[in-house]
Order: sequence, then structure tokens, then C-alpha cells
Amino acid sequence: METDAINARYTQLSETSCCLSCGGAINHAKPLLDEVCVDLGSGRGNDVIRLAEQVGEQGFVYGIDISDGMIAKAKANLAKFDVENAEILKAELEKLPLLNESVNLVISNCTINHAKDKQAVWNEINRILKVGGRFVVSDIYATTPIADEYRNDPDANAECWAGAVTKDEYLTMLETAGFKNLMVYEESAPYEKGKAEVASWTIEGKK
Ligand SMILES: C[S@@+](CC[C@H](N)C(=O)[O-])C[C@H]1O[C@@H](n2cnc3c(N)ncnc32)[C@H](O)[C@@H]1O
Repeated sequence: METDAINARYTQLSETSCCLSCGGAINHAKPLLDEVCVDLGSGRGNDVIRLAEQVGEQGFVYGIDISDGMIAKAKANLAKFDVENAEILKAELEKLPLLNESVNLVISNCTINHAKDKQAVWNEINRILKVGGRFVVSDIYATTPIADEYRNDPDANAECWAGAVTKDEYLTMLETAGFKNLMVYEESAPYEKGKAEVASWTIEGKK
């Protein structure tokens, strides 16, 4: 299965304290009281907990992840902090277990680059968002196309670089999914990662 390498890598990382983010999506998300929010690739659940606090008791937050270790860690963290308005769901990004037009805000930090079918992920984000809803996503893009030998290597993909697409491809996917009002909050200088040159950015778009 495509996500086996992801599950293995992130289950191992769930027990460490290393930072897994590549941007500050949560700092730009500005959720409102009572909103329904989703964190794609919720990891240990840190951003889910912050969102749950910000949307208040009448709001709700779903964390989505595929790694058993991360899911266990996130659930334990929710319990530890008595978070009752959030739930962690095991799912692939391409098949979100949420209803059409049921969500106000989708955030994600350094996760969508892992997905095999990124266009399907963006279509899913658009499907679950209410009209007027928005995403704030931190992710990486590659400055030049990643060679097929790395792109098709599940281990390299799990390491957060081989699945990166170019900036042009990224923007085309967002437009194809139907997003508008695209805005870049932050964008890094290019840096070496694995066998590629990538950059990180945090972007917002509206449905
Ligand atoms: C780099 S970590 C980021 C975790 C968290 N967002 C943070 O900033 O600390 C990526 C997370 O996405 C999850 N993930 C990767 N690919 C996924 C996929 N195709 N479907 C669902 N979750 C995925 C991993 O298990 C991992 O927890």
C-alpha cells in the first residue's frame, strides 16, 4: 500500500519531539467561534488542540492522519488536555470521511506533498468546504520537477521532499479544484532537502 512507508516513518517519529512543520499555517488560520475545522495530517494533534480552543465549545475540529502512531499520540494528547470538541480520524487525504460543504476551515502543515494524487486531495478539500470556506496550508514545492526515480520511491516520498511538485503545478491544482483569492502568507528561500531543492510556503484560498 502506498501509505505503508508513511505509516512506518511517522509512527516512529510520533515518539520523538522533533518538529515536523514546514510553515505556520496555524498562525494564519484565524478560526472563528463555532466554526468546523479540519487539520490534514494532524500528527501529534498540537494544531487540533489549538484550533479546538479557538473555535470554542460549539465549534468542532477533525484531525485526519494515516499513521497509527501519530493517531494514538494525538488521541492521548486530546485526552490529556480534556479536549471534547475534537476527534482524530484515520483516513487518506484523497478520501476524506467528511460530508460535502460541512467545513469552514481546512489547515494542513507539511503533509499534502506526501499524497500520491494531490489533485484528488485538493478536490476533496474543495468538496468538504462550505461556500465561502477557506484553506490555510503550509507545504513545500520543488524548484524543478523531481525525477521519476525519486517521485515513485515511497521512502523518499515519506521523507517530505520527493512528492513535491513545482510551484506552477501547485497553483494549477488549486485553480483546477476551484479555489480563488489565493494569497501567499509566507514563502522561504529555496533549500536542499533529500536530493531536491524545495521551498516552503503558506497559502490561503477560498471556495
Ligand atoms: C510532516 S508531518 C506533520 C504533522 C503536523 N501537521 C505538524 O505540523 O506537526 C505529516 C503528517 O501527515 C500524515 N500523512 C502523511 N501522508 C498522509 C496521507 N496520505 N494521508 C493522511 N495522513 C498523511 C503523517 O502520518 C504525519 O502525521
